[in-house]
Amino acid sequence: MSHDAGGSAAGRHERRTGGESEDRRCGRRGSPASGRRRRRDLARRLEEARPDAVFIALHGRWGEDGAVQGLLEVMGIPYTGSGVLASALAMDKGRAKAVFESRGIPTPSYQVLGREEGVVAVELEPPVVVKPLCEGSTIGVTVVRESADLNAALEGAREYGTEVLVEKFIHGREVTLGVIDGEPFPLVEIAPEKGFYDYESKYTAGRTRYLCPAPLERELSEAATRAGCAAYRSVGCSGVARVDMMVDPDGQPWVLEVNTIPGMTATSLLPMGAAAAGLGFDDLVERMLAGAGLKT
Ligand SMILES: Nc1ncnc2c1ncn2[C@@H]1O[C@H](COP(=O)(O)OP(=O)(O)O)[C@@H](O)[C@H]1O
Ligand SMILES: [Mg+2]
Repeated sequence: MSHDAGGSAAGRHERRTGGESEDRRCGRRGSPASGRRRRRDLARRLEEARPDAVFIALHGRWGEDGAVQGLLEVMGIPYTGSGVLASALAMDKGRAKAVFESRGIPTPSYQVLGREEGVVAVELEPPVVVKPLCEGSTIGVTVVRESADLNAALEGAREYGTEVLVEKFIHGREVTLGVIDGEPFPLVEIAPEKGFYDYESKYTAGRTRYLCPAPLERELSEAATRAGCAAYRSVGCSGVARVDMMVDPDGQPWVLEVNTIPGMTATSLLPMGAAAAGLGFDDLVERMLAGAGLKT
């Protein structure tokens, strides 16, 4: 699986963005033919290569949502990261939030809007954040401060799927927690220059400052770390995952989502946390590979 797994960090980043735009095209236009082609090709290539283990560095549909994980389970090929259920659950922000709530893990109030539901169905008062249910990289995410802007935001999110998540906006600081095998790395604080962490800020050098370990009071840092680890456990993650959170001015952490395939470029957030814990990039990759296995 050399094309999709491992390789240089920079190469992986390219694949990440390339893969996402392709997934979005497939999702939007419902292009099952190209999807099926890709899937068949993957199974055939795996059959030919018969690797000892697979390092999954795919993002979005099929790669991150449990589909490839299921293929590898069926083929009996060990792989890195979370299994089928955790991958699928974490990918669906609404259903993941229902699990967080059921475990008492703080997550902002939310509504999932179905295909037919428009502005009138929204009960939350602005400010809210509108996002596609199953996307990443802040794609299709809009902060809505006035009801008048809600419709455009819903339409924007619907470009990427029929179900839409409307979530209470949390004013505060953004942090993310890398976790490996249930153990947390130091938190990273994400401080975007323009106040909102969007796609451009995430992938343009110099637009965002990353502070690691996050300069939070100890109690706050411990609370966010606890919430992040609880979120990792609640969806049943394995290997590495990264939990995105907001911390409000009262010192309350709020879990936004769990990423089961966090970015793995040399400058990505999980490797940053790992480095702060003394685990360099190569050692991190080795440790992830060493943890490869079948999960179900
Ligand atoms: N409820 C919220 N309150 C404040 N900011 C949010 C909220 N939800 C998302 N954001 C911002 O949008 C970004 C993307 O949202 P997130 O839920 O992590 O989805 P994804 O990273 O999968 O696109 C976050 O990193 C954060 O900056
Ligand atoms: Mg995120």
